[in-house]
Amino acid sequence: MRTNGIIVAIDGPVGSGKSSTAKGVAQALGYLHLNTGAMYRAFALLVREEGGLGVAADDPRIHQLITAADISFAATGAVTLSGRDVSREIQDPEIALLASRFSAVPEVRARLVEKQRAMGAAGGVVLEGRDIGTVVFPDAELKIFLVADLHARAERRQRELSDMGTPMEVGEVERQIAERDRRDREREISPLLKADDAVELDTTTLTLDGQIGEVVRLARERIARG
Ligand code: DC
Repeated sequence: MRTNGIIVAIDGPVGSGKSSTAKGVAQALGYLHLNTGAMYRAFALLVREEGGLGVAADDPRIHQLITAADISFAATGAVTLSGRDVSREIQDPEIALLASRFSAVPEVRARLVEKQRAMGAAGGVVLEGRDIGTVVFPDAELKIFLVADLHARAERRQRELSDMGTPMEVGEVERQIAERDRRDREREISPLLKADDAVELDTTTLTLDGQIGEVVRLARERIARG
């Protein structure tokens, strides 16, 4: 039962504008914002902290870690690992690559998807990720698929990294993004895929206000239709 409003699903590749769009849309609608990528990143951080960097996807330690992992969101929207705010630590590009690697493990996905469904089922929520419209909430009332040129995405990501004090050359950012995209698209389970009924939005030349405004317009239209 959607007691709190509709579900807005925003999917797309790295740097397509998911997080900033989802945040702005949630704010405009008075909805909750759930960044599911942050959950995969928090799990990757846990694996790194437990010294499991080299572990294979089918290593029993992955099973133990995901079963015991306490990944949640604080009221501020910050992702937490055993109650600790890890929102800054998970921005590390190494964590992003690890998140992409471990997100291909079926059991990791199953556990995190279960949490995402529990948090979003009542509606009034904007979820962003790779598989929200296809797997997590295939019945979402509004599905958006964001795309943008690889170079534009790399430039955005580079700006964010440099704002956080970790500058990187744009060519290297582009290489890492392309690697992550390939892995996210080619994995067997829940690959990055546009749902048949998703609205595709190319953000290459859109301003942030423009992309937020368009999604909010579509959401209000959907809410009005009941
Ligand atoms: O959105 P992001 O870049 O923070 O996500 C980090 C990685 O997590 C991404 O490369 C793939 C994975 N991910 C996923 O498999 N499914 C999601 N719903 C969200 C993220």
